[in-house]
Amino acid sequence: MSTVLDVDAVTKTYDTGAVEVHALRGVSLTVEQGEYVAIMGPSGSGKSTLMHILGCLDVPTTGHYRLAGEDVGTMTEAELADVRNRRIGFVFQQFHLLSSLPAWRNVELPLVYAGLSRAERRRRALAALERVGLGDRVDHKPGELSGGQQQRVAVARALVSEPALILADEPTGNLDSTSTDDVLGLLRELHDQGRTIVLITHEAEVAQAAARVIRVRDGVVTSDEPTDSPTGVTA
Ligand SMILES: Nc1ncnc2c1ncn2[C@@H]1O[C@H](COP(=O)(O)OP(=O)(O)OP(=O)(O)O)[C@@H](O)[C@H]1O
Ligand SMILES: [Mg+2]
Repeated sequence: MSTVLDVDAVTKTYDTGAVEVHALRGVSLTVEQGEYVAIMGPSGSGKSTLMHILGCLDVPTTGHYRLAGEDVGTMTEAELADVRNRRIGFVFQQFHLLSSLPAWRNVELPLVYAGLSRAERRRRALAALERVGLGDRVDHKPGELSGGQQQRVAVARALVSEPALILADEPTGNLDSTSTDDVLGLLRELHDQGRTIVLITHEAEVAQAAARVIRVRDGVVTSDEPTDSPTGVTA
């Protein structure tokens, strides 16, 4: 098995002028290829900060982070952007869809940088939307879709580039229970197909969808254990 995420004594300090916030205070963890891991913790515990580092959206203050063996801390902005595009699919709580674009154009965005033809991008975007059950909504703009449907568009966008890693930060935070089940079901399917999934949540019930739960509090890992989820293969 190969290690996808290798976080080694990572700290993150935000310096906002008057006060320094120690958001991460020495986090170490590894995630192997094909694992489904939840990172759980209360508000302000450092989950989003950790996700930004895992997703190469930010770099540690101290410590090391290797993604698929590459040390992210030494990369330039351009290299980080390239790694994000090639290796990671993101799903956020606030969907982060572009409101002026129809669903399929939102989904094709990660492919624009990959240099594929427009026809090929459209074909793949439609296939991804089909996969999340939105084959009949491809021309709808985000404002013409329900919250659950918007999040499914975001999942389609996350998987369209076939990334090895899917990072989801509170993906069900704005959804009702039916849409939550839909999105968790999709993540499970992606995991069953061999994707590595890291799901960030403050809800114990949502974390149970994963095979392993890492708990964080005040910027440190307090426990790291398998769940009794039926997806609990791996590691
Ligand atoms: N850009 C920033 N500048 C300064 N402080 C920040 C910044 N981002 C986060 N923080 C602080 O770092 C700490 C951790 O925040 P973070 O967003 O990682 O928490 P979280 O676990 O994701 O919380 P939530 O469940 O509410 O989303 C908090 O005290 C927060 O105020
Ligand atoms: Mg957060």
